[in-house]
Amino acid sequence: MPRRFAQLTFTEHVKAAQAHYGTRAQAERYAESAQANAELGAREREFIAARDSFYLATVSDSGWPYVQHRGGSPGFLQVLDATTLAFADFRGNLQYQSVGNLAGNDRVCLILVDYPQRRRLKLLGHARVIDVAAPGGEAPAWLKQLQADAAEAPVERVLLIAVEAFDWNCAKHITPRFSERELQPLIDPLRQRIAALEARLRELGGVPPEN
Ligand SMILES: Cc1cc2nc3c(=O)[nH]c(=O)nc-3n(C[C@H](O)[C@H](O)[C@H](O)COP(=O)(O)O)c2cc1C
Repeated sequence: MPRRFAQLTFTEHVKAAQAHYGTRAQAERYAESAQANAELGAREREFIAARDSFYLATVSDSGWPYVQHRGGSPGFLQVLDATTLAFADFRGNLQYQSVGNLAGNDRVCLILVDYPQRRRLKLLGHARVIDVAAPGGEAPAWLKQLQADAAEAPVERVLLIAVEAFDWNCAKHITPRFSERELQPLIDPLRQRIAALEARLRELGGVPPEN
């Protein structure tokens, strides 16, 4: 079973580059891998559910790629089934470049990174835009399903992504980084310990150092 990601991305120019750098045979072995990686499994679901951001690439009419950041609460990008992703798209800088590009070409590429664990997942798919402002549309049902209530920012649309292929990348060159949320469980006990030590110091008549 050929690997779907390679089927979609190993163009003639890509193959020529692989030949140029002497990796053509290796790339072909990867392309002919036993795993198609076209349907999201438990590993991908768990990974996606924990992410609070991803990068979304679209294709513009001029041929230039365009990449933007999307962020939200962990799990805001939801796996609806083995080949469907969905998220509520917030109002942003009012340039509408991603959504505009999707009107001409529905292809998207997503990259999701788990910095602490140094893991990353890339996905290819076709996106469908469901406008929240469209009268009598299907958006309310989707927003309910996504449990998006515009509390963080106004939701302008829902993006449904029909996944075509995914692949995992290696950990190389990913610097571990930690969000405030990830550090909180480590920081809280330290803060409590410091507060207890300061209280003890006051009891003993000392003055705690200023922060
Ligand atoms: C008030 C505000 C200002 C922003 N300014 C910028 C900006 O100058 N450049 C940028 O790349 N993103 C900016 N962003 C983030 C983008 O608006 C956001 O990623 C948005 O979803 C992009 O939409 P698009 O991908 O359809 O172009 C801003 C967001 C907000 C809320």
